[in-house]
Amino acid sequence: MSEHGFDVAALKSGGAPKQYIRHSLHAGIFDLAGRRVLDVGCGIAMFYRFLRNAGIDIAAYVGIDIVEPFLDYDRKLFPEAQFLARDIFQEPVDDLAPDVVFMSQLFNARYEADNNESVAREALARMFAAARDGVVVDFMTSYVDYREPEHHYFEPEEMLRYAKTLTPFVSLHHDYLPFEFTLALRHRPRLETPPADDIRAYD
Ligand SMILES: C[S@@+](CC[C@H](N)C(=O)[O-])C[C@H]1O[C@@H](n2cnc3c(N)ncnc32)[C@H](O)[C@@H]1O
Repeated sequence: MSEHGFDVAALKSGGAPKQYIRHSLHAGIFDLAGRRVLDVGCGIAMFYRFLRNAGIDIAAYVGIDIVEPFLDYDRKLFPEAQFLARDIFQEPVDDLAPDVVFMSQLFNARYEADNNESVAREALARMFAAARDGVVVDFMTSYVDYREPEHHYFEPEEMLRYAKTLTPFVSLHHDYLPFEFTLALRHRPRLETPPADDIRAYD
């Protein structure tokens, strides 16, 4: 427990070592220098800390969450960033003009009333429409040998298939932690196509 009352255990995201691996992957997918970052379900701002401590020179960070005590804690620690109370399923985020939207560890808990699959797909479509560059999102994978009843496990192939209906430019990362995967959806291809005359690699 930190002096402010929260630590990584409050998030049920697997502790600092797992957060470190996942944030290392997430922070490297897009070039975040000069970009506006929106962190949906920011919790205790661990991703913001990671970006700050990694020295990544983002233009702005906005974290949104529905748990006020988390937001109060974040605002006190990081007055230079913005932390807003917003439920992404109730309110739009377009006014925040994000370049890259992150959703990490948001869809793990099994919803009693709702269907995790449709909730996640709708959130992904809405966040991708709001983001100028794209979205990074992680899920617990169906490639597990043991399932907790309170968790929802997504099939990576099905989520990739869905993401491809939103954009042709999708990457699936299933090589960083054993029981989860990350999708990155881009509005533009990862690599720019240079004019044919500029290509010297095959001279
Ligand atoms: C498991 S925590 C992950 C926190 C953070 N993304 C991380 O990985 O360190 C999930 C967070 O999502 C927030 N959350 C859940 N549903 C939300 C919603 N509809 N809108 C915004 N935030 C939400 C929760 O309050 C919680 O802080």
